Amino acid sequence: MRFILAVALAVTSALPAAAQDGAALFNAQCKSCHSLTGTSSPAGPSLKGVAGRKVAGAPGFAYSTGLKAKGGTWTDANLDAFLTNPSGFAPGARMFARVAQPQARAAIIGYLKTQ
Ligand code: HEC
Repeated sequence: MRFILAVALAVTSALPAAAQDGAALFNAQCKSCHSLTGTSSPAGPSLKGVAGRKVAGAPGFAYSTGLKAKGGTWTDANLDAFLTNPSGFAPGARMFARVAQPQARAAIIGYLKTQ
């Protein structure tokens, strides 16, 4: 019985799903540069209400010319492409963090939509 429990725990923690909590992923990978309070910092624009917002649209943040030139709004697809490869989405974008795992990107985007 103890063995079965140990195996079950090992399997659960090996699943990517164990890490697919958007809030936890955001806190671990994004929060050092991005607030959700509406106030940008020199490290990154605020991501409060970013879903549906204009690209490079947070007031008071000095965006790269690359991201400013991109235009459009932050749809799910744009957020997914940006988090996959920021400079691939907008050449000259000045964010070097990436999220390789599609499920992790989906979880983070889902979380951002609640903010
Ligand atoms: C080391 C700092 C840093 C980290 C970590 C970081 N970012 Fe960024 N992010 C930036 C910077 C700087 C910009 C502005 C880029 C530009 O001007 O080209 C940006 C821009 C963005 C934008 C565009 C916002 C807008 O107003 O148009 C989104 C969305 C975004 N980041 C999401 C994320 C997410 C989600 C994570 C975590 C997976 C993350 N970032 C991690 C620094 C960071």
